[in-house]
Amino acid sequence: MRIDVVSIFPAYLTPLELSLVGKARTTGLVDLRVHDLRDWTTDRHRTVDDTPFGGGAGMVMKPDVWGAALDDLVTEGSHLLLPTPSGAPLTQRHAERWATDEHLVIACGRYEGIDARVAAHYATRPGVRVSEYSIGDYVLNGGEVAAMVLVEAVVRLLPGVVGNPESLVEESHGAAGLLEYPVYTKPPAWRDLDVPEVLLSGHHGRVERWRRDQALERTAARRPDLLRALDPAGLDKADRAV
Ligand code: ADE
Repeated sequence: MRIDVVSIFPAYLTPLELSLVGKARTTGLVDLRVHDLRDWTTDRHRTVDDTPFGGGAGMVMKPDVWGAALDDLVTEGSHLLLPTPSGAPLTQRHAERWATDEHLVIACGRYEGIDARVAAHYATRPGVRVSEYSIGDYVLNGGEVAAMVLVEAVVRLLPGVVGNPESLVEESHGAAGLLEYPVYTKPPAWRDLDVPEVLLSGHHGRVERWRRDQALERTAARRPDLLRALDPAGLDKADRAV
């Protein structure tokens, strides 16, 4: 997979040299390149923004500068991603789908956002998809952190990136639609807290049941919206008792 990220603060993206994503880059599992939007400006001041038509506070990023950058990066088959607080909420399902794309281009806006014609224009290009996504109902200073969130969520799903692919199966927001159960390791007693007895029992069936109950209880307490979205056909009798 190839990923291009465009930002006026390319240094903001340097954490993508570390850890799992950094290793995926050095081993060639992902070709990730970070670009400085100002390299596509043509004026002495390297201007990327201007005042909004219709008035109002703040500045809007110029379509001509973004167009010059994206014309060099977006080709047939590219998926252009625009992080914005007004986008559709990013979910694990998006990460799964986008992990199968050949080429992602992430355009990081700043200020009040990118002129809306940029998304509209690239959506008309044959073979190009455009998605505007949000990483949550809060406003960041720009799209860079949201770009990093997306890269991490996608790259860890690429074949060969996570050592044990089984660890991708049971986690929160996985296929079960539930939050993950609590986990414990040694020592069995720490401060005044013991590891739940059942986990030391060696009884696989009881452990599985306990984990499922915990996942259901957690989801009910923290994310009732997820619980309501579950297919009732997927719940067994013991689930309904929780
Ligand atoms: N840019 C600013 N805030 C954002 C958010 N919540 N999600 C995605 N991009 C953003």
